[in-house]
Amino acid sequence: MADPNETNLEKYSVRRFPAVADPGDADYSRCTTWVQAVSHGFHQQRRDAEYLAKTLSAYQTDKREFTGVYVNGGVPDHSLGRDVPVATYATMRKSLNIGFGRQLEANLVTAVTVRGTHRRNGILRGMITADLEAAKDDGLAMAALTASEGTIYGRFGFGVATFERSIKVDTGPRFRLKGQPDGTVEVADPAVLLDVAPQVFERVQRVSPGSVDRQEYYRLVASGSIGHDGKPDTSVRCALHYDPSGTLDGFVSYRFKGWDHKPYTMEIVDIVAATNAAYLDLWRFLGSIDLIDEVTWAEAPVDDPLTWALEDPRCIDASEIRDMLWLRILDTPAALQARSFPASGRLVLEVTDPLGLAGGTFVLTSDAGAAAVVTDASGEAPHLSMDIADLASIYLGAVSPVTLAAAARIQEKTPGAALQAQQIFAVERSAHCLTHF
Ligand SMILES: CC(C)(COP(=O)(O)OP(=O)(O)OC[C@H]1O[C@@H](n2cnc3c(N)ncnc32)[C@H](O)[C@@H]1OP(=O)(O)O)[C@@H](O)C(=O)NCCC(=O)NCCS
Repeated sequence: MADPNETNLEKYSVRRFPAVADPGDADYSRCTTWVQAVSHGFHQQRRDAEYLAKTLSAYQTDKREFTGVYVNGGVPDHSLGRDVPVATYATMRKSLNIGFGRQLEANLVTAVTVRGTHRRNGILRGMITADLEAAKDDGLAMAALTASEGTIYGRFGFGVATFERSIKVDTGPRFRLKGQPDGTVEVADPAVLLDVAPQVFERVQRVSPGSVDRQEYYRLVASGSIGHDGKPDTSVRCALHYDPSGTLDGFVSYRFKGWDHKPYTMEIVDIVAATNAAYLDLWRFLGSIDLIDEVTWAEAPVDDPLTWALEDPRCIDASEIRDMLWLRILDTPAALQARSFPASGRLVLEVTDPLGLAGGTFVLTSDAGAAAVVTDASGEAPHLSMDIADLASIYLGAVSPVTLAAAARIQEKTPGAALQAQQIFAVERSAHCLTHF
């Protein structure tokens, strides 16, 4: 299964096709069947026509490419038909903020499922290796995904590059933020987020290392236009933040968890702030909502300014620090040259790649703000030696090369080289990705 357009010997055929949203299109039913297979793979309910229509419309906007793996030959009577893929995989292209305002186009991988009765036959390996090779051939230097399990993707050269955590914030009497509000917060009809959310997020994307540009779905969810079941979510509320000049620069959408849920809780659906002040003011607002004892957020940054803005940082009850964004470097010189490095230095990096896409020995010369990469460094003794997945982990500065050396993942051939790499790979603020895909 080296190529998604090739037939995999006798057993499977692999087909790649774009998402289409027009029910009159000849390929629409192939797309709806594919979406149903994804729901099956993630143990979700069967999708109704409304959900399928909304979802495919969003997927088409994102220009998602679907891959389906289909059984050749006949299937037993009464089992799922041959038109239902036994495996699914999708990609779309979005920008990744790689620090200091630089953006790198990335191949985002999503909707990876293999039906239980076909698992561990190398189907995922076939789909992902073919896709990564194709993305590289197409000139992309980076791929990214979010993972359901921590054990699957390291073998394909993906490394964890950002983290997130779930928080519960006590908004009772001890909730007080230092400093003063900088702007104003107004409650709004969540429907305005259909227009406003992408505009605010666009500003966030420009200034937030680790951020991935959002897919269409986000504004639909933030505005309550679509809930988990595909129907409008009428419990969603929203508030907007305006800076002192009256410019809208942040929003939060949230829902009440109900009177039978104690403590009385507001759950954040989405919070996006283009400035530090907007972020803190939105939290001031959340902390001021009457009748509410607690605010929860499942996608909070680990290094959260809120912790330090609270008079009592113990208002935050944090749990479940999780890996979030996984990166896969497809072209090491291109990925390194795309970055801006804040410290000067010269490092010889020996990189191994199990898939043979991006390995080699490279000299990274940084001049505090510019980077030069010499690809042919064979013969030079490396300062650091690592797997391509570890280079992905340190790429956004959120994972320390010193820690990876202590974990025996990176080999430090020259004492002090891991610390030097940590300084070179730093970004201007803690990398965090607000976008799941
Ligand atoms: C994860 C999943 C896609 C794997 O598909 P698959 O076709 O069985 O995987 P493959 O047979 O190609 O396995 C490739 C390699 O990954 C390993 N692997 C696959 N799934 C794994 C898992 N869940 N945990 C650990 N290792 C796993 C295999 O052992 C194999 O290793 P090897 O090639 O080094 O021997 C499939 O189990 C699945 O659909 N799971 C439920 C949905 C899900 O979690 N999807 C991932 C979303 S991010």
